[in-house]
Amino acid sequence: MTSTLLRGRTLSFVRWPQTIDDHSAWRYEEDGGLLIRDGRIVAAGAYADVEKQAGEAAKKIDHRPHLLLPGFIDAHVHFPQMQIIASYGAELLDWLNTYTFPEETKFANAQHGRRIARLFLDEMVRHGTTTVAAYCSVHKASAEAFFAESHDRNMLNIAGKVMMDRNAPDGVLDTPQSGYDDSKALIAQWHGKGRQHYAITPRFAITSSPDQMEMAGALCREYPDLHMQTHLSENHAEIAFTQELYPWSRDYTDVYEHYGLLGKKSLFGHCIHLSDREADALSDSGSVAVFCPTSNLFLGSGLFDYQRFRRRDKPVRIAAATDVGGGTNYSMLRTMDEGYKVIALNGEKLNPFQSFWQMTRGNAEALSVAEKIGTLDEGSDADIVVLDARATPAMRLRMETVETLAQELFLLQTLGDDRTVREVYVAGRAAKSDMAI
Ligand code: GUN
Ligand code: ZN
Repeated sequence: MTSTLLRGRTLSFVRWPQTIDDHSAWRYEEDGGLLIRDGRIVAAGAYADVEKQAGEAAKKIDHRPHLLLPGFIDAHVHFPQMQIIASYGAELLDWLNTYTFPEETKFANAQHGRRIARLFLDEMVRHGTTTVAAYCSVHKASAEAFFAESHDRNMLNIAGKVMMDRNAPDGVLDTPQSGYDDSKALIAQWHGKGRQHYAITPRFAITSSPDQMEMAGALCREYPDLHMQTHLSENHAEIAFTQELYPWSRDYTDVYEHYGLLGKKSLFGHCIHLSDREADALSDSGSVAVFCPTSNLFLGSGLFDYQRFRRRDKPVRIAAATDVGGGTNYSMLRTMDEGYKVIALNGEKLNPFQSFWQMTRGNAEALSVAEKIGTLDEGSDADIVVLDARATPAMRLRMETVETLAQELFLLQTLGDDRTVREVYVAGRAAKSDMAI
């Protein structure tokens, strides 16, 4: 049995760090070791201790002085939107109609889907992201392409075919029945195959008829262990249109509540303009609000109130995500940098330990996969990112004055991007250096 022994400065989190001095919230080894066998971390700790367990045959890789962290997790991203990232000048509904829906019609072509799925996962790995919760297009073939590519790479990913049957061009519409049937077939084919997870994915209330919402609810009842992902309360025009389409609803969240879509595995993208009643409903059901800062700023949608959700009497679970192609960068470092600024505009702060917790263990907990990923604990899958805080001249110069781990992390978040990512391990395999591009 071949094993790999990584050496470097290891950092992973045990729980939410309350303050910058809350040392027991994380584990940091200045000279750390990770022993990997069969895609899992089998020993972690001080290098000298781990080395004793490694045996002569272990392949040793020395990443000093770089940091080894759990691979980043992106909790909401649209893989079919790679070719519309950076599309100028629209708010959400215009952006969807002008750029997004026409772009997604291309995924009727399975070959196009396979090409973009490959390039998408390349790009995620290049940026240090080892797990995503991804939206595919409405076409079953797009989800097949995504899962095939993900499975080939042995990545733990969550994804689903979008369900949408109205208020969009014909080329991206299914029907309540075909959306249900295709989702079921994809679940049978992919959910639980290797590291693949299926997410029931009604795009949002505007593009699903009441009949389709019923079908999405039926799928959630039939498969209570599956994730459900959708969009909620991103933009004022979206909220008003939803109210027109579902006039009986108390508010936007009530629409999803009515069809049984709230729950511990339910991921709601954006959640910017929620009332207290809606936040209570998310909290009571254990649903997750997904913070997508670059997208929210780019589309002018608003400021997600991260600390309000955390601190309220009924806290709301939070994940963080790029939301590419509404989001403007594939990097979770760039995402949390913009997240820091959004939180600052709300008069609050997110300290660097909290940010890195969010990208790793926090997102793993929000996606209910923390027993597998998001840490460097023994028994975890070996999804690991190697970060170089001196990756660029500007970073190197700034590092001359950095004295603490907190300062280094904040520098990585503020100036870091794909150049900062030296290596990425997916289930123990060096995936970034393996890449052809
Ligand atoms: N709401 C419904 N679909 C989408 C999408 O693709 N991107 C974003 N940002 N919001 C949405
Ligand atoms: Zn989205």
